[in-house]
Amino acid sequence: MCGIIGYIGPKKASNILIDGLLALEYRGYDSAGIATIENNEIKIMKDKGRVKNILNLEGYNELQGTYGIAHTRWATHGKPSKENSHPHFDNSNTFAVVHNGIIENYTELRNFLIEKDYTFYSQTDTEVIPNLIHYYYSNPNIDSNGENPDSSYDIVLDNNDSTKVNNTSRILVAITQATKNLKGSYAIEVISPLIPDTIIVSRKDSPLVIGTSNGENFIASDIPALLTYTRDFYLLDDNEFAVITKNSIEFYNEKLENHKKEIKNIEWDASAAEKNGFEDFMLKEIFEQPNSIRETIGSRLKLNEKCNFDDLEISSEYLKNINKIFIVACGTAMHAGLVGKNLFEKLCKIPTEVDIASEFRYRDPIIDEKTLCIYVSQSGETADTIAALKLAKSKGAKTLAISNVIGSSITREADYTIYTHAGPEIAVASTKAYTSQVTLFSILAIHFAELLGYDKGDITINSNGETITLEDFKKDILDLPKKVSIILEDTSLIKKFADEAYNEKDMFFLGRGIDQTVALEGSLKLKEITYIHSDAYASGELKHGPIALIENGIHVISILTDESLLKKSISNIQEVITRGAKTMIVTNQNLENNNFDFVINIPETSPLISPILSVIPLQLLAYYISKNKGLDVDKPRNLAKSVTVE
Ligand code: AGP
Ligand code: GLU
Repeated sequence: MCGIIGYIGPKKASNILIDGLLALEYRGYDSAGIATIENNEIKIMKDKGRVKNILNLEGYNELQGTYGIAHTRWATHGKPSKENSHPHFDNSNTFAVVHNGIIENYTELRNFLIEKDYTFYSQTDTEVIPNLIHYYYSNPNIDSNGENPDSSYDIVLDNNDSTKVNNTSRILVAITQATKNLKGSYAIEVISPLIPDTIIVSRKDSPLVIGTSNGENFIASDIPALLTYTRDFYLLDDNEFAVITKNSIEFYNEKLENHKKEIKNIEWDASAAEKNGFEDFMLKEIFEQPNSIRETIGSRLKLNEKCNFDDLEISSEYLKNINKIFIVACGTAMHAGLVGKNLFEKLCKIPTEVDIASEFRYRDPIIDEKTLCIYVSQSGETADTIAALKLAKSKGAKTLAISNVIGSSITREADYTIYTHAGPEIAVASTKAYTSQVTLFSILAIHFAELLGYDKGDITINSNGETITLEDFKKDILDLPKKVSIILEDTSLIKKFADEAYNEKDMFFLGRGIDQTVALEGSLKLKEITYIHSDAYASGELKHGPIALIENGIHVISILTDESLLKKSISNIQEVITRGAKTMIVTNQNLENNNFDFVINIPETSPLISPILSVIPLQLLAYYISKNKGLDVDKPRNLAKSVTVE
């Protein structure tokens, strides 16, 4: 995820581009760059790190261009560095492009272009875009299938200069040909000295809006970045193209048919809208989960195909030789690891242990070259986790990092790295990173099972020995985004429970089996943002001590998603009800005719991945309680987003 900005009008573009980038910096800050055109020449300023670094680059103050494009990056492909910063050029320096998104088939496209003698100067997926545009521009007789020219394009541009009209039409055709070849997501802006005073934009599955005012037009990844300039916006649709000059905006569909578009007048208050209309980043991130899970799945998992992990060079020979997996992490990432353990044991039959990173390091764990150690860290900067990784390396084990941040420290230390691609997580309380980590564990476990040759048989999913086929399990994973959206559609009952419980001093979270791991995560969320003390217990363990704390009116939250454990779990809940507890149950089972106070129903899925759904109501519960208490949800006391000390 990154931020893109564009400006065309009478004013100096650089100032407006920088202002816009600063407003979008929350979307990523690995590098920043701007490109303007003056005297028919593209001027480019870009550097690693924050937007403000551009202001110190030589020549920045001399930029005079009145139109340009800009980008603040959250690296997905290629580490944060100057050469990987946007804008990117084609080989002839004719087209400058900024891109938000991920081009999933970039290796294929890169190889295709290399065969045609193109050279690549960055490790980004983005660099294929300007080169593909150049390829189609230089070969107008080749269509996007590499075959016959498509003569059906009927382009009418509102412009009197005939050379420019010809070039604009030709470039627009080249851009549509190029984008037809892109798999994945993109919002792009393109400028070229061949089409002075013009910016061409398009998008698919990444946001892009065009703000319009008298004699000037603006482009951005989100509306708030432009609210100081205009309130009138065009919201570009997927596969739509716009040719923008200072006085005109022409819209085209993918067949290049010209169409009109309605302006939307935005009445948002600028500061609230910075979070896309959400009151807090945490709430925004909770609601982003259908999309972040989709991004995590990406092109890795398809029905009737083997998993695609071309970024992970673990061989079947190596896997067949290992006899233990350690999953090591802190906090929420460790809770994701607990779900990972169950997946590796069920699908790959490899004994798996989960450790808290700060403990692992000092407990002299038994590790050798037959142990695979997996480290999970959203930020990739957690000192405890990095230290635990170094320890395993020193004992000869191979290390695999699962992180959300490209090029973060942990990914530089590990032998192998895979990314969750959940997009930047800003709120201190981790939400979408957890669901993405669990999703990635489920796909990784399938991949390992395939490498080990366990993909032919069925998977045992619960203690009754029930099984499902691998294809059914894949379908369950692919259906997750849809099912998360269903949970998010109606949050009223969770709010009601939060209204009743927010003054409590103590709460309990209970679950058996996989549900216990979710109880731990729900309890952590509650503690960190509401400052209410809570404990998470295996339901069956309660009677061995903690039940002494259950008294009249105490709130107990139980997770019930595993049918094979239902009866026993219900008995445990009855034990607390008998002692006066108020109960909220998160379940995908039919629990009619029970005396529970609140029942939050969630869609059914395989118990192996049910935490991805059952955690959502618990994230929302913590959020609403924190709001009821008037606390700073995004920046809870004493905490930081990445904990870089041991
Ligand atoms: C989660 O809500 C916490 N803020 C915290 O437990 C976090 O998960 C932990 O510090 C690990 O962070 P990491 O994933 O960036 O390594
Ligand atoms: N995938 C591109 C990159 O890694 C764009 C990332 C973004 O959206 O910031 O450069």
